[in-house]
Amino acid sequence: MNRRLAHPSNIWITGAGSGIGEALVRAFASGNHRLLLTGRRETRLWVLEELAPTRIDVCPGDTTSPDGLQSVSQALADIPCLNMAILNAGTCEYMDTDQFDSGVVERNLQTNVVGTARSIEVALPALRKASLQGQPATVVIISSSAWWFPFGRAEGYGASKAALTYLARSLRADLTHEGIDVVVVSPGFVKTPLTDRNDFPMPFLLTAEEAADRIISGIAKGKTEIAFPRRFTCLLALLGALPQPLVDRMAARMTRKPIR
Ligand SMILES: NC(=O)c1ccc[n+]([C@@H]2O[C@H](COP(=O)([O-])OP(=O)(O)OC[C@H]3O[C@@H](n4cnc5c(N)ncnc54)[C@H](OP(=O)(O)O)[C@@H]3O)[C@@H](O)[C@H]2O)c1
Repeated sequence: MNRRLAHPSNIWITGAGSGIGEALVRAFASGNHRLLLTGRRETRLWVLEELAPTRIDVCPGDTTSPDGLQSVSQALADIPCLNMAILNAGTCEYMDTDQFDSGVVERNLQTNVVGTARSIEVALPALRKASLQGQPATVVIISSSAWWFPFGRAEGYGASKAALTYLARSLRADLTHEGIDVVVVSPGFVKTPLTDRNDFPMPFLLTAEEAADRIISGIAKGKTEIAFPRRFTCLLALLGALPQPLVDRMAARMTRKPIR
């Protein structure tokens, strides 16, 4: 096992109240790790705190707002160090291009990119303390494989996850010298409240528990890139790497709109 989860760690998880975040909390709760949970809906977090009240703390907050993260910043300053920040809070809004709405793009970017950047800002001082003490320090960013292929209606969501992945990989280059790892997670479809709204087929759909297992196992193995399910993400990577005119034709067909 890699050093990352070999010993009891202090782990901050955003978007902890539902879906993949909740499944991660439940999986970690059965170990010896100490968790700090963030999300906007406090009651969901309090319920999860009951899983291990001596090792789980709740710090509600909106990751898009600097004020909303002030109490998290204080909570992180009060612990000896932070070993891992799992930045999972996110949203997915699709666009109907018959009524192109820049607000959809803005909301996806605000939550998925700006919210994650604000979370990195508050986590870094506490992660640096861990690294300076010779302990593992890792930022885990939950991105998506959705942007590997230009899916119709995903203009806002795909753009936000592409930007988020760039941000993460660029941050990895800068933080390597400080001994802080940056892990990018690129899931396919996972059954959560976010995808329960989808009205299209979702191939290779995983449960949130399966997704959490794969994320934790990838982190524990020391991976910096975690993509799953393999068959889906390999296929998507392959399709996305085809010549662009071919990709464009396939993408246009998938929108099920008549081509003029
Ligand atoms: N499900 C999939 O198929 C899939 C695939 C690829 C990537 N992902 C990514 O996985 C992550 C988790 O999504 P999920 O599928 O588990 O959906 P989810 O159940 O809707 O989880 C998203 C969580 O983020 C929190 N959140 C949203 N905006 C927030 C904000 N401004 N501040 C703080 N917390 C916020 C929500 O809690 P509150 O509303 O209480 O704040 C919610 O608990 C997202 O980043 C998503 O893009 C999901």
